[in-house]
Amino acid sequence: MFSYVLTALLQAQVPGVPEHRITDMFKPLAGPAWSEYNIALLTFAITAAIFVVVAGLIVYTIYRFRRRPGEDSQNEPPQVYGSNQIEAAWTVIPILIVFVLIGVSARVIAEVENASPPKSTLKIRVIGHQWWWEVRYPDYGVTTANEVHMIAGPEGKASNYLELESADVIHSFWIPQLAGKTDLIPNRANYMWMDPRDPGVYVGNCAEYCGTQHANMLLRVVAQTPEDFERWAANEKSPAVQSTSAATAKATFDSLSCVNCHTVTGTPAGGKFGPDLTHLMTRQTLAAGMFVNDHENLRRWVNDPQELKPGCLMPSFKLTDKELTDVVAYLETLK
Ligand code: CUA
Repeated sequence: MFSYVLTALLQAQVPGVPEHRITDMFKPLAGPAWSEYNIALLTFAITAAIFVVVAGLIVYTIYRFRRRPGEDSQNEPPQVYGSNQIEAAWTVIPILIVFVLIGVSARVIAEVENASPPKSTLKIRVIGHQWWWEVRYPDYGVTTANEVHMIAGPEGKASNYLELESADVIHSFWIPQLAGKTDLIPNRANYMWMDPRDPGVYVGNCAEYCGTQHANMLLRVVAQTPEDFERWAANEKSPAVQSTSAATAKATFDSLSCVNCHTVTGTPAGGKFGPDLTHLMTRQTLAAGMFVNDHENLRRWVNDPQELKPGCLMPSFKLTDKELTDVVAYLETLK
């Protein structure tokens, strides 16, 4: 519930894009999330039954053995010591309940963790950064950011296989409607899989405190049909558009320090610290899900990222008006 409110408020709402904005783990839409939902319900049912029995007995006892008018306050009820039956019952029953819970949890954990990806699985490498997501497709030679494109379909189990790493501190990858959380830890790789059934946008967020802008490390999964995914990947793979009408704007961009941190494939810009900008305009949002990627926001962002996302690693370069106009004009050609 809390995560629903938080993410729904923070995520930029992109006009015209149908989104699964209810980031509620009780409305699962993929395999791992379904398994976890079922075990959550079972655990809830068992603990609710325990609560009802225990609370019921307490309420009954309080009422049944209350002090009545005229009763002697020194009159103690009969004391029972060392009843083997009672002690056996309250030892054995809880042990059985705990073993049932351990058993079903272990089964679901094994089912989710040990699912081996089919040959056709889509391999995705996600690298957490303060405070954005780098997304790589090793089989396609594609790098993008903050939007994880994956394949939707009925084939199921492990159709998308994610390798999770971190460039700095511990982050956590969480799309509540698709799967549980998995941490991204420096110097190690964690794995998880997702099999969204329906195409669409699923929103989520970083789920491990990772610094000032943790709450603005938002995330979206774009699940597509195989054909749409291939089309997207083919465009991502192509080098940046070289538009002759934007030649001056490009020259300005290439002369600034933007190129030290950002890559635009096929140009001198080859920095690796910040998000790859080769196809920036195909992305729905800026600043890891905070703002809709439109002209107004892009201009504000380039002008002073610190005003929009204080503490983020991109400084304000105090660009002149002409430089700012040129940089934004050039970025807008990167489709
Ligand atoms: Cu990354 Cu919190």
